[in-house]
Amino acid sequence: MARRRTVHCCQACGAQHPRWHGRCPDCGEWESLVEETFAPPVAPAATAPGSRAPGGGLAGLVTPVGEEKPRRLAEIDADASPRIRSGEGELDRVLGGGFVPGSVILLGGDPGIGKSTLALQVAGGLAAAGRSVLYVSGEESAEQIRLRASRLPGVGGGLQVLTSTRVEALAGPLRELAPSVVVIDSIQTIQTDAIESAAGSVAQVRESAAQLAATAKRSNAVLLLIGHVTKDGQLAGPRVLEHLVDVVLTFEGDRHHAFRLLRTVKNRFGSTQEVGVFSMAGHGLEAVGNPSELFLEERSTRAPGSCVVPLLEGSRPMLVELQALVAPAPYGTPRRTTLGLEDARVALLLAVLDRRSRVDLLSQDVYAKAAGGVRVAEPAADLAIALAIASSRLDRAVPPDTAAVGEIGLGGEVRRVARLDARAAEAARLGFRRLLVPEACHREQVARTKGRGSGADPDCELVPIREVAEAVDWLERYGGSEPG
Ligand code: TYD
Ligand code: MG
Repeated sequence: MARRRTVHCCQACGAQHPRWHGRCPDCGEWESLVEETFAPPVAPAATAPGSRAPGGGLAGLVTPVGEEKPRRLAEIDADASPRIRSGEGELDRVLGGGFVPGSVILLGGDPGIGKSTLALQVAGGLAAAGRSVLYVSGEESAEQIRLRASRLPGVGGGLQVLTSTRVEALAGPLRELAPSVVVIDSIQTIQTDAIESAAGSVAQVRESAAQLAATAKRSNAVLLLIGHVTKDGQLAGPRVLEHLVDVVLTFEGDRHHAFRLLRTVKNRFGSTQEVGVFSMAGHGLEAVGNPSELFLEERSTRAPGSCVVPLLEGSRPMLVELQALVAPAPYGTPRRTTLGLEDARVALLLAVLDRRSRVDLLSQDVYAKAAGGVRVAEPAADLAIALAIASSRLDRAVPPDTAAVGEIGLGGEVRRVARLDARAAEAARLGFRRLLVPEACHREQVARTKGRGSGADPDCELVPIREVAEAVDWLERYGGSEPG
């Protein structure tokens, strides 16, 4: 009998080591190595034809002759397998037009964000449209799923539900139902007998996913894997999974707000630039066609400490309100608290404002946040964050019909951003009359519109800003003081 192989597998990065270490030599994570035992390779090899021969080696890796031959590129029909529309426009947009048959998709996100809801909605919709869909849940009972489905519109009664946590138990149903879409909720609860370690460990997740993916590929089914995210925002354990799957989607948002953003981290069949916007309602997830309007709905236009920025989420411009509150620090080191913005970015902007403009922020507490539970990562938000902070400190409100965009450098210079025309158009569409923009962008825009023989956008005036101090001057001149 072949000897059992024992490795120590890092639960953070998936690296394998022959010996135990207190700290993973690969990723530096402490106490992340867990001993894992692999069954002798004879068992899995016997079940799957074409998998590695017991002896290993290159011969075992190569698919048996006759199954797949080289073809000339010109002879390959790219449209051989048309995409399956999910029925959710926002999801289709992110996928690049729908599911590709035979593809594996990983949907990650925080617990409670709505992954199961989205998956059930899509699976149920496809079942209602007459497709064979299998929904496998290792997290909820069949009754719970039924209860949830009754709240969602358009979930077809033909959806096949299976509550199982063993990969081996899926083989039968997969063969009999021949589903075109299989949902696994979640990959961390699924385990295979081929590996002895507990469900959710890196080895289990990797092996189970690999087996499922191979089965799905063989039957040309779409496999949608749901995965949880750990505290620090990594897809739990399975960095390894990212290599195995074709598409990685993340579902994010603030659980206490209704907005949810669906992003692509990786997509073998489309762009990773697209973003889907949903809102969580009492009856499931709804697509949001005009996110800017939602984000700006509750804006207080008169109070200082607020500035709107036209962000670019993928190819879609989106207006988001950024807020700041500056208050004298009563004692000791001033507090700097952020929500939805990066701490480091805000700290940097505070330092730049302090040194490069007349805004004095020493011994002031600063609180900064993005409204609506949005998470802002784009550097183009710098100028708006700086203006919101300056606005609160100087007690001068940014005029309600003015937005700002631009990246700020350490010298206080305002740097160029991409796709200014799309941002300005979105701002104009929502009634903004003025947009503070990097001077370099303004120059290009003017040159471009001159070439076309028309003037600048008549609805939204672009105000060129070279340095952060200039923006502060503009605010002092045109900003409104607090009423009352
Ligand atoms: P869920 O899909 O279970 O999250 P995940 O699978 O990512 O852990 O979403 C759960 C949350 O969504 C829960 O807090 C309730 C809320 N919800 C609604 O607001 N409306 C609905 O119609 C449904 C089904 C859930
Ligand atoms: Mg769930």
